[in-house]
Amino acid sequence: MDLQELVIIKEGKALLKVPNPEKYRRSDGVYEPSWAPVFYNPKQVLNRDLSILALNVLATLSDFSELRVLDALAGSGVRALRYYLEVPNVSLAIANDIATEAFTVIKENIKLNNAESVVKACKLDANAFMYLWKSMGRTFEFIDIDPFGSPAPFVRSSLWCVRRNGAVGYTATDTAPLSGVKWVAGSRKYDVRLIKTDIPHEIGLRVLLGHICRRAAEIDRFIEPLITFAKHHYFRTIIRVGKGASKASETMDKCLGYLTYCRKCYYREVVPINDIPRSSLCPSCGGRLVVIGPLWICNMFHKDFIDHMLSLIKSSEYKYLPTWHDSRELLELLIEESQVNGLAYNVSSPARIRKVNMPPTNAVIKCLRSRGLKASRTHISGQLIRTNASWADFVECVANGCRSQ
Ligand SMILES: C[S@@+](CC[C@H](N)C(=O)[O-])C[C@H]1O[C@@H](n2cnc3c(N)ncnc32)[C@H](O)[C@@H]1O
Repeated sequence: MDLQELVIIKEGKALLKVPNPEKYRRSDGVYEPSWAPVFYNPKQVLNRDLSILALNVLATLSDFSELRVLDALAGSGVRALRYYLEVPNVSLAIANDIATEAFTVIKENIKLNNAESVVKACKLDANAFMYLWKSMGRTFEFIDIDPFGSPAPFVRSSLWCVRRNGAVGYTATDTAPLSGVKWVAGSRKYDVRLIKTDIPHEIGLRVLLGHICRRAAEIDRFIEPLITFAKHHYFRTIIRVGKGASKASETMDKCLGYLTYCRKCYYREVVPINDIPRSSLCPSCGGRLVVIGPLWICNMFHKDFIDHMLSLIKSSEYKYLPTWHDSRELLELLIEESQVNGLAYNVSSPARIRKVNMPPTNAVIKCLRSRGLKASRTHISGQLIRTNASWADFVECVANGCRSQ
């Protein structure tokens, strides 16, 4: 790779040498980052901005005296550099990438930002690096796993190499397998039973968290999701990792379960893991129920943690974030969702079955709340409602919402 061909850009507080995007545009003008010799995707800035905020909150809420951070699949090294430049107390940030070109660019970017004292470049397989680090008795307070496609190959090693009460961020760009659209690949990669449903993103996020929870339990660790979201072509979750065999079992019992789902009338029910359903017939239409899972069935959002993120972004100090407006909007929606421990339902499904126009989401939310149930909008889609209602209550409220139009 010719270093002269790199261009200098700024993201957050970091200066970065990256491949010239003009050279990797498709005929329709869209930039294709995976064609470039070193990966840098401007569409992931929001993901990185929110990770900066999350690490700042982790630093504030935990009793860590310093933060050691691993950017395990670093590309240009943008994450490691931004963590160093934008989060206080980062004493070590390792930017690791297996590709020689990426390693070269990471070293250039470390120099460009005068970050040599804290940010270190490394060229190893991410799993090899994490197991080696842990075998030397060392851990990180935060690990960022941001691969092409599935994070599954790096889940166990990252859970192993993170410090007790530290956090790991996972990005998944294989949204079609995870969400059941490509259910054969999803079932294989995440060790679950999957089908296509009317809530693909909701299922995808819960499959990902369920998978991480089970990998954690294997090594006597348990997880606590801090923030989880779907955006553009990717899913992102940041989880805190605790240690302890009994807490790991408890988390599995409480937070893993299945979704029984009827493809004919869309009936569904969340069933805890130890309560595997006996009947495979839909109580609503008599059709056959399909079992999806195991899935994470607890809350995917930590309200206090996201509240802290939101108050940071509202302060003038963080106005510089490139996606300040969109990040703030997303956090505000996530706060609403964090207050409802329940599944997201799709308003269009009962409307389709009942052959009625789709009612406004707000009317359905109002109806659910008038029944003493919890309900909120979702960040995923304006057509979804997160609620602790049963499917029957939801269907009735969709019908009521139609009548009140
Ligand atoms: C999606 S890119 C990373 C993007 C970067 N985190 C960012 O925010 O711009 C994934 C990177 O992982 C690297 N990679 C792929 N397999 C790897 C492995 N087994 N170990 C370490 N790096 C790997 C690739 O070379 C690529 O640079």
